[in-house]
Amino acid sequence: MSLPSKNAIWRVLVTGGAGFVGSRLVRRIETDWENADVTVIDDFRSGDFKNLEGFRGELIANDLADIDLNKLIQANDFDAIFHLASITDTRVMDQRKMCWDNIESFKRLLEFARNRQIPITYASSAATYGIDGKVNVETDERKPANVYGFSKVQLENLAAKYLREPDLAGWKLNAVRYFNVYGPHEQHKGAMASMIYQLYLQMTGGKRPRVFKSGEQQRDFVHVDDAVQCTLLAMNSAKPGVFNTGSGEAKSFNDVIAQLNKALGLSLEAEYIDNPFPFFQPFTQADLSRSKAELGYEPKYYLETGIAQYVKWLQERS
Ligand SMILES: NC(=O)c1ccc[n+]([C@@H]2O[C@H](COP(=O)([O-])OP(=O)(O)OC[C@H]3O[C@@H](n4cnc5c(N)ncnc54)[C@H](O)[C@@H]3O)[C@@H](O)[C@H]2O)c1
Repeated sequence: MSLPSKNAIWRVLVTGGAGFVGSRLVRRIETDWENADVTVIDDFRSGDFKNLEGFRGELIANDLADIDLNKLIQANDFDAIFHLASITDTRVMDQRKMCWDNIESFKRLLEFARNRQIPITYASSAATYGIDGKVNVETDERKPANVYGFSKVQLENLAAKYLREPDLAGWKLNAVRYFNVYGPHEQHKGAMASMIYQLYLQMTGGKRPRVFKSGEQQRDFVHVDDAVQCTLLAMNSAKPGVFNTGSGEAKSFNDVIAQLNKALGLSLEAEYIDNPFPFFQPFTQADLSRSKAELGYEPKYYLETGIAQYVKWLQERS
């Protein structure tokens, strides 16, 4: 599908819509499409009702891995589905739970949508690449280092399996592999919120920012509004695919501290601590060639502008 015109009635289902990225996506859809009719499914295991302030659609507060969607809603009600619901706490070590909840949720959604082949854009993750320390292209081998990343690989495999069915070959099932997303509405995530927010809290709390020695580990930090932009564009893609969703630049924790100091008018020095994790990711960066060429994705934020915008947003609310 191509995205509808701005005054069209657009009927959209967003799973995980009370979460960080999902709620930002819901807000963007309801802002840009005044006649959008949005249904959110979220069981609030890691979401927050405050993220849905001003939401004007229907909320179904249920576990996606546990409901018969057809009994609650009709496939005919939707033009597009964005699937963001997932266990997002990467520290969850219960492998059965991580796999059951994440995979079963997606399977139920696929079965719900298959007859009408409603386009689905679903959240995958850079965690599918594992710890290989290089710039990742979508064709790289997937080597997840934790069960969270493993569950995302299974989502991609499941989508590919459906697309191998002859009558489903043209179905628009698109994965967006998010890198490190940061920005407004992640506050409810606590320890799972971005490193940028963790360092912001330390620095505005009067502490020196603490990072693992020597602060030179690099990440592809992507602003949530860019992640939302890429997610909407993926719904618009001409053919099914998997799309890296990052900023395209790798920045170090020291860079983050420098930008936070600048945005906050501080000059705090980092406190470097020993890293207790033997498998800490040294480097992530998204190669955006495919997302740019096939989706027309162009990130709007560099780290400096993204942090400046985010700090302004946080300070207006404190
Ligand atoms: N934030 C990131 O940096 C990042 C990076 C890579 C991938 N992702 C993916 O993006 C998506 C959104 O992540 P987020 O950062 O907004 O996390 P989040 O935890 O804020 O949002 C996830 C939402 O899904 C809901 N949920 C989880 N399982 C559910 C289920 N079975 N039924 C109904 N609701 C359920 C939660 O209550 C929550 O509101 C997730 O799929 C996540 O894996 C995020």
